[in-house]
Amino acid sequence: MEVIIQPTSDAAATLVARIVAKELRGNPHLVLGLATGKTMERVYRQLVRMHQAEKLDFSLCRTFNLDEYVGLFPSDPNSYRHYMDHHLFRHVNVDARNTHLPNGLAGDLEEECRRYEALIQRFGGIDLQLLGIGKAGHIGFNEPLSALRSRTRVKALTPTTILQNAPLFGGEGRMPRRAITMGVGTILECRRCILLATGNAKAEVVAKAVEGPITSMISATTLQLHPRCSVIVDEEAASRLAEKDYYRWIFENEPEWEEYR
Ligand code: F6R
Repeated sequence: MEVIIQPTSDAAATLVARIVAKELRGNPHLVLGLATGKTMERVYRQLVRMHQAEKLDFSLCRTFNLDEYVGLFPSDPNSYRHYMDHHLFRHVNVDARNTHLPNGLAGDLEEECRRYEALIQRFGGIDLQLLGIGKAGHIGFNEPLSALRSRTRVKALTPTTILQNAPLFGGEGRMPRRAITMGVGTILECRRCILLATGNAKAEVVAKAVEGPITSMISATTLQLHPRCSVIVDEEAASRLAEKDYYRWIFENEPEWEEYR
């Protein structure tokens, strides 16, 4: 795992977008794993800008989102399908048939989870997976005690997650209590992971995720097991990290990051 600290949340999101753009240009058939949430909005804004200004081409890529609420119609403004259409899909030249999210309305949810896993496999697995982190440390909706080898499944949301996202629904009572999410095992199999976290509210959980012990209580800690994971943070989200000087040195000196400096 490596940690890259950027001065602002905009700079951090722009760096993530530039990495996505580079991967996409290198492999137009990229299988791209996507996340939703506030933090990712800036990344999608940048990708839309790159599509418009730099002709970044999404026409051959395929996307798989991490998660979707159970029980929401795609037209519901709080569904993740709606989020993706609104923030990215409708503004770039991705083929709608190549964009995949779990179907939270499926009659048989367990079957739907199996179908989703099989679909990811059918397209050769995920090349690059974008991740946010919840205040209690989830990636996707892998809430505390998610098994380290878990696959796509239905997960009950914790009070912390409900509290975090309820404002978007106009109150806790209106929020779904369950979601379909890729499992920790599914995420760990992606060829490359990029976790983006910004703002003071994420500082504590970022420090635990990166520098703390691996535990199923904080599913983001399992990324320490991943062979190619970059954690990209702004100064605020980095504020509780112990080894900041080392991380800064890496960004300033390692050849891999030269083109992004
Ligand atoms: C959403 C997802 C979640 C979010 C996380 C951070 O698809 O997988 O893990 O990435 O809850 O959300 P924000 O960015 O709203 O703080």
